[in-house]
Amino acid sequence: MKIIEARDYDHMSRQAANIISAQVILKPASVLGLATGSSPIGAYRQLIDWYGKGDIDFSAVRTVNLDEYVGLGPEDSQSYAHFMRVHLFDHVNIRRENTHIPDGLNDDAQAECRRYDEIIASLGGIDLQLLGLGPNGHIGFNEPSRSFAKGTHKVELSPATVEANRRFFGPGRQVPGYAYTMGICDIMQARRVVMVVSGSHKAAIVRDAFLGPVTPEVPASILQLHRDFTLVADRESLSLL
Ligand code: GLP
Repeated sequence: MKIIEARDYDHMSRQAANIISAQVILKPASVLGLATGSSPIGAYRQLIDWYGKGDIDFSAVRTVNLDEYVGLGPEDSQSYAHFMRVHLFDHVNIRRENTHIPDGLNDDAQAECRRYDEIIASLGGIDLQLLGLGPNGHIGFNEPSRSFAKGTHKVELSPATVEANRRFFGPGRQVPGYAYTMGICDIMQARRVVMVVSGSHKAAIVRDAFLGPVTPEVPASILQLHRDFTLVADRESLSLL
């Protein structure tokens, strides 16, 4: 694994955006695995800026997002489909039909998970998977558990994750209890994985994930075994490493 130490959130975002834009410049029809949460927003903002300057072209790019809340449709302001439109898709020339996110409104979990894994396979797998890091070590919504889930699956969100994500939901709105998420195998099969992490509140989990043992109790720890994994992290989040 490689570690790129950034000065702060903005520097981390530009470093990650540089890697993503290099990927798209070298392979315009790249399959990008995309993430939500506050960590990748700055990288998306930087990519939008470079797109505006004519430096990056998304017209052939295909995307697969990591996860979606069960029960939320794309028009719901808290859905990850909505997040992706607001933070990236609406601002660049990506073709909407080339973007994929699990369908939170499909209540046939088995069918939805199979459909999503078939999409990833039909695209030829993921060239670059972008990840954030949940405060409990989750990646996508692969929560700490006794084993690594392989493919896309429906997951019950842990109380810690519900609590951590409450800040995005307005008062009176409940955080959904379930999500569809790509599995660990989907993520590990990506040809390149880039994780963005910032802030002192992530320092302990960064240490556990990347200095501790590989264990499904800390799902991100599996990335120690990936052949092309880059952690782009600010100084504060690396302070215990
Ligand atoms: C959510 C997402 C994850 C993300 C995590 C961390 O739970 N499903 O993909 O990595 O939040 O979020 P943040 O970057 O806001 O800390």
